Amino acid sequence: MQISTGSSELRDITKMERIGVHSHIHGLGLDERLEPRGNAEGMVGQAKARKAAGMILKMVQEGRIAGRAMLFAGPPSTGKTAIALGMAQTLGSDVPFTMIAASEVFSLSMSKTEALTQAFRRSIGIRIKEETEIVEGEVVEIQIDRSATGATKTGKLTIKTTDMETIYDLGNKMIDALSKEKVLAGDVITIDKSSGKITKVGRSFARSRDYDAMGADTRFVACPEGEIQKRKEVVHTVSLHEIDVINSRTQGFLALFAGDTGEIKPELRQQIDVKVAEWREEGKAEVVPGVLFIDEVHMLDIECFSFLNRALENELAPLVIMASNRGMARIRGTTIRSPHGLPVDLLDRVLIVSTKPYTEDDMRQIIEIRCREEDVKLTPEAATVLTSMAVSTTLRYALNLISCAQVLARKRKVESVDVEDLRRVYIYFQDEKRSVQWLKEQQGSLVFEEMRPENSELMDTR
Ligand SMILES: Nc1ncnc2c1ncn2[C@@H]1O[C@H](COP(=O)(O)OP(=O)(O)O)[C@@H](O)[C@H]1O
Ligand SMILES: [Mg+2]
Repeated sequence: MQISTGSSELRDITKMERIGVHSHIHGLGLDERLEPRGNAEGMVGQAKARKAAGMILKMVQEGRIAGRAMLFAGPPSTGKTAIALGMAQTLGSDVPFTMIAASEVFSLSMSKTEALTQAFRRSIGIRIKEETEIVEGEVVEIQIDRSATGATKTGKLTIKTTDMETIYDLGNKMIDALSKEKVLAGDVITIDKSSGKITKVGRSFARSRDYDAMGADTRFVACPEGEIQKRKEVVHTVSLHEIDVINSRTQGFLALFAGDTGEIKPELRQQIDVKVAEWREEGKAEVVPGVLFIDEVHMLDIECFSFLNRALENELAPLVIMASNRGMARIRGTTIRSPHGLPVDLLDRVLIVSTKPYTEDDMRQIIEIRCREEDVKLTPEAATVLTSMAVSTTLRYALNLISCAQVLARKRKVESVDVEDLRRVYIYFQDEKRSVQWLKEQQGSLVFEEMRPENSELMDTR
């Protein structure tokens, strides 16, 4: 069976940037010796956990670790998700990093195990070496003949190297591509023969005096030597999941854009695994184990956990990172209570890293970083007040107030957010503690649900 890995443009589009509450995180902020720097790459404090994360990453990058798992355990808003994203940023674009929230597994229109399998296969990269044939040379002449109606075009492209000159016939598609790239005589171009993609390399030195045909940023290059048609080796990385989807007959590659991939047949996966093994033997492909991050992992149920146990033993397993803010909690789908809401046999496999509540100084610095990220100015007094709010409520609540307070400051037509704005948003928006207090005061007028008293599962913040 023919297994395709898709075209390179397709692969570029399916990788997306994440923005939002963690957009200030650009890495783990470690130096070469893996020592955490005080305030670097958007990261503050939480030194031990960052260092542990850095060590694990080092092993991933050296390809020494696969089929392992680690767990970030700590109270809410202590940077578990932030550190995982920092790890993703450090990995580089070549190593796949997949992030899912455990509850996603239940909401997709597929079985839980299929959703997890897809997440696993998304996190395994296959680095493929391919030879493609390209045409490279300096354009001597482009000649285009239009039919009387202008609907069809034919043409000829004359292209040369220092050693030879060839004329190619052009079809409609190539003519459009050439005019889109604004290719002129004197440009040095490459054409990928399989995809027809045209790349302008620069302008030939020989034409450096045609001042009418260039802008300020024109790059001059020498006219290429040797054959016009060359073979070139290109290396790219695709995930196993992408290969699955591209080759699944019912879905096709368009499903990658829609994100709606449906279930993939196990037989297809088997064929692909066999093919990948063949490629590895032939030296055509390398496996790049990536990272799968499962946030709020206590939301998985016992069936998922047993699947994880099994999947981690697979030869093609990524590093699995989990995060949980539970202390002793019931394992979903059972009546058993267990640390972090994870069954003990899974806990036994994982390296546990705990995250601690932040100090006041750390919080002040994180607030500062977020203000810079959101382009908000605080007066020094406001910064102090917001920090003390973070201490008495939570860091996340304080970070949420930044943009709200800015709306008020703008309404007052002032540059910087002041204490007065913070005080007002503090009244408008309640934090968790005040909301609970309010609920208690409202006993009777709101609708309450009866429940057995067993709700001390969340890790204590103090
Ligand atoms: N060490 C840190 N440095 C900078 N920002 C942080 C750090 N830890 C947490 N944050 C920010 O604080 C907020 C809450 O952290 P988050 O990682 O979501 O907490 P958790 O996942 O542990 O509940 C996020 O906006 C996050 O980016
Ligand atoms: Mg989180």
